[in-house]
Amino acid sequence: MKFAFEKFDIVLARSLSKPGHIFHLSKPLQSSLQLNCGNGTIAHDDIIGKNYRSLVVSSNDHKYIIVKPTLEEYIVNRRREAQPIYSLDAALIVQLSDILVHHPQIKQTGSNWCGLESLQAPSRYKRLNLGDPFDNFLNDKLQQNGSSVHSISLVERPKQFLECGTGHGSLTLNILKAVHGANCYYDGVNDLTRGAILHSLDKNAKHLNVGMQNVKHYEKGILWPDVEFHLTNSPNDWLEGEDAKYYRERLAQSANRFLSGVFLDMPSPELQLSKLSEALYLDCPLIVFVPSITQIWDCLSFVKTNGVKLTLTKTYELTPGSGGGGMREWDLRRSLIRESGAEGIVMRPKVGTRVVGGGFVGVFRKLPNDAIVKTWD
Ligand SMILES: C[S@@+](CC[C@H](N)C(=O)[O-])C[C@H]1O[C@@H](n2cnc3c(N)ncnc32)[C@H](O)[C@@H]1O
Repeated sequence: MKFAFEKFDIVLARSLSKPGHIFHLSKPLQSSLQLNCGNGTIAHDDIIGKNYRSLVVSSNDHKYIIVKPTLEEYIVNRRREAQPIYSLDAALIVQLSDILVHHPQIKQTGSNWCGLESLQAPSRYKRLNLGDPFDNFLNDKLQQNGSSVHSISLVERPKQFLECGTGHGSLTLNILKAVHGANCYYDGVNDLTRGAILHSLDKNAKHLNVGMQNVKHYEKGILWPDVEFHLTNSPNDWLEGEDAKYYRERLAQSANRFLSGVFLDMPSPELQLSKLSEALYLDCPLIVFVPSITQIWDCLSFVKTNGVKLTLTKTYELTPGSGGGGMREWDLRRSLIRESGAEGIVMRPKVGTRVVGGGFVGVFRKLPNDAIVKTWD
């Protein structure tokens, strides 16, 4: 356990007089840098080595409490290019997916690599820039970790998850927290030592790079090894490409299916459902997060009219402005109108009154390939 700030940690400096209103998030702490607080600056050197919740004084004589930011505070206060899902809502979405990873079983141990299988992706978008002090530090740390587990290989292939788009990296970080434990033996090189991989896709390089940076700087890069980033026009395109070929053919048990969970936070997610559902293992979740309930309806209609092997198991509204995990279950289905005998649409909150705004989550699950799906005309 550590209770003091170290080099490359990130700090939230809260004004002592208005801690809930005036606060500033630092960059990764480095000797040469300063934190600009509006009311003067604080040299990073005045923070490094101080205990959490210490008081520091800015160059303009204002007092600040230096605290470790929560994930939510970290996400909200980082520079953004895309609109993130509130971190606490993102955590809830991960809970709704119910994904779980296990502590991996080790296949072989020995004193060196001889005789052990090794697989490495042909290319990787994710790179460290060794000219950057933080990246250089992370690279050293990963190499040290790798050398301590270099003689291990896992019994099972990694569980693979996919999200689109990466955006600000808020959902990414929350998914990574759920899968991180599976990578306790990952040596940073051999994919057969990975227990889990999140594939995070975006078509916008600027967004992807900000999302990557946010993952990298969180908790000194603790979740960085758990994810692969991909710049691509869409999940459909990525699934057809060379990168995915490696992950689905070399790194999965069966060539067709290789995904244990999918998360979509992107426009027109329904267009991605056919191919993604084919890549999903039986009963695994496909989560859609969208701003309006009609977009969940579009997904359901697409599934029902195209016979996609997915079933919509739950529809929730994340109530607006809370950013704190409030949610409401919705009723979304076709139903027979008794009076006319025609089919109508039920689209309403299951309890309580309508709250305007907010986002909606649709939880789909993969049906068996031989399931008889009742399609809509
Ligand atoms: C609302 S943001 C995602 C925010 C992210 N989930 C988070 O929590 O920070 C939507 C992202 O989807 C990306 N996007 C939109 N259409 C896409 C597509 N067809 N393929 C890949 N990414 C796409 C955008 O570039 C954008 O970064």
